[in-house]
Amino acid sequence: MWGGRFAEGPAAVMREINASIPFDKRLWREDIAGSKAHVTMLAAQGVVSAEDAEAIRGGLDAIAVEYEAQGVPEDLTLEDIHMVTESRLAEKIGAAAGRLHTARSRNDQVATDFKLWTRAAIDEVLAALGTLQDALIARAEDHADSVMPGFTHLQSAQPVTLGHHLMAYHAMIARDRSRFADARARANECPLGAAALAGTGFPIDREATAAALGFDRPTANSLDSVSDRDFALDYLMAATQVSLHLSRLAEEFIIWASQPFGFVSLSDQWSTGSSIMPQKRNPDAAELVRGHAGRIAGCMTALVMTMKGLPLAYSKDMQDDKPPVFEAHDLLGLSIAAMTGMVESATFRNDRMRALAESGFATATDLADWLVREAGVPFREAHHITGRAVKAAEDAGVRLDELPLDTLTAIDARIDARVFDVLSVDASVASRTSLGGTAPVRVREAIAAARARRDEE
Ligand code: ARG
Repeated sequence: MWGGRFAEGPAAVMREINASIPFDKRLWREDIAGSKAHVTMLAAQGVVSAEDAEAIRGGLDAIAVEYEAQGVPEDLTLEDIHMVTESRLAEKIGAAAGRLHTARSRNDQVATDFKLWTRAAIDEVLAALGTLQDALIARAEDHADSVMPGFTHLQSAQPVTLGHHLMAYHAMIARDRSRFADARARANECPLGAAALAGTGFPIDREATAAALGFDRPTANSLDSVSDRDFALDYLMAATQVSLHLSRLAEEFIIWASQPFGFVSLSDQWSTGSSIMPQKRNPDAAELVRGHAGRIAGCMTALVMTMKGLPLAYSKDMQDDKPPVFEAHDLLGLSIAAMTGMVESATFRNDRMRALAESGFATATDLADWLVREAGVPFREAHHITGRAVKAAEDAGVRLDELPLDTLTAIDARIDARVFDVLSVDASVASRTSLGGTAPVRVREAIAAARARRDEE
């Protein structure tokens, strides 16, 4: 492509280190779409003839059919998807192919292709996360009343409902989706026409190519257009954040599926056995979702490191932008689908969750709150009195609501029999009616609101 200036060809390793076709062939559809939009605009502006534009578009369509059927040839001598396709076009239509690259550089071409690809990737993630939200909503509704221990420091803290716990993940995924939607809106400006870095002297129409490719507008600055990989970083950062939410949910499934907890049994479809221990049902998919989060964060870090010291405009380091984004996208797609499958098919053990909620003195705060409300005790003092009640229950080996009333009145005379109304786990969760609280009525409202937002999409 640049033979005029060179007397010798590249060294074999030069060819190998330089070539991106092994991975950027994944951009072939975007590359062809970009080229068709470009040549159509060139013809409309009178820069190339209508006949040449027609021949180029026809040739590109035929190449798309070939690629679809046989894949993209990995010719390292042609370096990348842009050159592989242009050279195939020349084989097909002859000299007219050489007019396609008028008023264009691979620098604006690759930025355009990669933005188009990333935009489609975001749309896939948004849809997949929507399906995960639907699964969370459905299971939260099944378990709006299912009491489980809520934890802080992984110590039994206060009873909550499983529905409330699952809706917490729904809230995280809602933020993740809004981050991807933001990233999409910011990315949706077309770099095509920036050419190598300075723009071009040809009378191009950047509004036309931007519109043809579904962008909101052309980018404003030609140097920024070819230097910017913020859209890829936005994708990776949003992917990192969603993957860490998936990883936390995966971690909880792993803990909940362990025998000492026994809160959940993962379906056969989402469990694996052991080659030596016949009793095993291992949560491998959840462990891999947890593991993939680390790899996705690694992809994000890789591109941050690639970009951080680059002067304007294009440097070849930027060719390394694609592998981490492709890898993160593939890992994220698998992780979301696996987590969705696990959520949909898990069997939650209400009896185990309730038993553990009842065993950890989780309604101690309810006793303290009762003293405040019914006996006018300052909260700090109520906390101390309740601590003594917990100690008495622990010493006697009983639950808080199993302590005899006279044991309680001996600790503080202001306690009376009405206190038993608040000491059960059901009474505890039912009382947490503050906005965003765990009371089943609130959880059902949150579910209804989430459904309504989904219907508006
Ligand atoms: N394969 C290159 C990439 O992915 C295309 C741009 C090449 N531009 C250049 N000036 N060498 O970044």
